[in-house]
Amino acid sequence: MTDYTAVTSDMAVTRTGAIKLYGADAFARMHRAGRLAADTLDMLEPHMVAGVTTAEIDRLIFDFCTAAGAWPATLGYRGYTHSTCVSINHVVCHGIPSDKPLKSGDIVNVDVTPVLDGWHGDSSRMYLIGDVPLKARRLVEVTYECLVLGIEQARPGNHMGDVANAIQLHAERHRYGVVRDFCGHGVGRLFHDAPEVVHAGKPGTGPELKPGMIFTIEPMINIGRPDVKLLDDGWTAVTRDRSLSAQFEHTVGITETGCEVFTLSAAERGH
Ligand code: MF3
Ligand code: CO
Ligand code: CO
Repeated sequence: MTDYTAVTSDMAVTRTGAIKLYGADAFARMHRAGRLAADTLDMLEPHMVAGVTTAEIDRLIFDFCTAAGAWPATLGYRGYTHSTCVSINHVVCHGIPSDKPLKSGDIVNVDVTPVLDGWHGDSSRMYLIGDVPLKARRLVEVTYECLVLGIEQARPGNHMGDVANAIQLHAERHRYGVVRDFCGHGVGRLFHDAPEVVHAGKPGTGPELKPGMIFTIEPMINIGRPDVKLLDDGWTAVTRDRSLSAQFEHTVGITETGCEVFTLSAAERGH
């Protein structure tokens, strides 16, 4: 049973378990927050080179977000003390910034969530450092295609399972594993809200998509098995078989006819 509840952009909101349906004003605010997330990831492009530490990346993100009047949602979130997650190679997600430098051949996910005027724009993408082997580049390419195929299913009348199935079919066609332990999520005034957005599943299952829903799609795809393991730091998730993992994330809003992507990069916007 799925509950939906219409909310206005000025309403105090809490996690009730119901799926919130937002209006035009909320969508406008999400466009601003999402655009800042995209601009943050665009800003990083020239900095993502061998020798740069992930702590330096974290600092660049903090400075960029705060200069824009936003706050990184992850900073202080459930005891997390950084402005971003930086996940290298076999790290699936939630890699903690450190003094470790990037090296040629790394594939790196950077995940940012600026909160602008109370609205969360959540996005992540992959960066290729120096000379990346074809096998890793292929994983990154297919993971991006998985996100795009998932977004194509995000329209009213479809179900979460349709989004999930499109992602899973494409990943498994390439014999990759789809991570089950982490999901996308409702987002807006809250960072993590209902519904849970799974990345593997059957068509027609799960909550029906309705205009006004705002959520992330953020598939994590492994060259090997889907299984993950949490490191002792309590955050870093790695592939159990140590195979490479990639992830892309966008924040989307369901419209009457399809969806709007709030976090498109300048390149994706076509300039
Ligand atoms: N930005 C991540 C997501 O896509 C969440 C990171 S939470 C943190 O949902 F605490 F690990 F930073
Ligand atoms: Co994110
Ligand atoms: Co997210």
